[in-house]
Amino acid sequence: MASINTVGVLGAGTMGNGIAQVFSQAGRKVFVVDTFPGALEKAKAGIEKSVRKMAEKAGKDPAAEAAAVMGRLSFGADMAVFEGCDLVVEAIIEDLAAKTDAFRKIDAVAPAHAILASNTSSISITKIAATTKRPGQVIGMHFMNPVPVMKLVEIIRGHLTSPETTAAVVEASKAVGKIPVEASDYPGFVSNRVLLPMINEAIFCLHEGVATREAIDDVMKLGMNHPIGPLALADLIGNDVCLAILEVLQRDLGDDKYRPCPLLRRMVAAGLLGRKSGRGFFEYERK
Ligand code: CAA
Repeated sequence: MASINTVGVLGAGTMGNGIAQVFSQAGRKVFVVDTFPGALEKAKAGIEKSVRKMAEKAGKDPAAEAAAVMGRLSFGADMAVFEGCDLVVEAIIEDLAAKTDAFRKIDAVAPAHAILASNTSSISITKIAATTKRPGQVIGMHFMNPVPVMKLVEIIRGHLTSPETTAAVVEASKAVGKIPVEASDYPGFVSNRVLLPMINEAIFCLHEGVATREAIDDVMKLGMNHPIGPLALADLIGNDVCLAILEVLQRDLGDDKYRPCPLLRRMVAAGLLGRKSGRGFFEYERK
């Protein structure tokens, strides 16, 4: 398996930007593709801010570090740039039809040796892989938010993912300073199968008046040493993303214990998506 020097990232949202940033920080050339108007300008500004913050903390020159990292990043709207990539990581919306459509397009342009990875948080890698002509080279690389800070990459082996692909992606994750942990392709993998029921239960506590939003989060922070409470974490992940993951868990595991709390549904319908919309369970300054 060829080494991974050039990386494509599809989707310049929070996760795609973080993924592009860590590969560039580790010296890889990165192509970021997004067709959403304005996404690329926002991505550039967000990545540069994060790189400068990390450089300051590490005692490095923020301007020089930002110039080096931004210099290895290219931004555009055309997937044709994936023709020169060894690895393409998809980080678009959490929707099977959108992802399979994207993978068909990436499969058509990426070179034969390239590995195609999805940052999906719950959708089946096996299903995504089946829409390509290279299912053995399709894998899940599930990064955690905020990507530059969190150590884990959950590596998801689809039913037909080859051992060579898994080994290459494990190596690539270590090479960018992350710690890969492998899981098989079941709904929600490990991370979200364990995390989302906790968040959902916290929302039920709020819905049923068990405690206030602050009290629920304080219990988990002070009693369980979680860095932030589950309601603040839902706001960080995005309430729409939390709802989408719970729906996948409920449907694909066929168990109503994953039933999304009605309050979560109502908040998503109202546009209270968390940090990204300025308001979720808590209020935030719009960036
Ligand atoms: N870029 C660079 N640095 C960042 C950053 C970013 N995007 N975001 C935070 N940081 C840095 C801050 O500068 C700060 O550094 P210092 O401690 O050296 O000052 C450090 O991270 C901590 O940040 P804050 O002081 O602002 O706040 P905090 O102490 O609450 O930490 C946090 C922030 C790291 C996000 C912490 O709250 C945390 O770990 N929260 C839980 C995150 C989590 O569970 N993520 C997984 C979500 S699930 C997921 O992503 C998968 C899915 O499929 C849904």
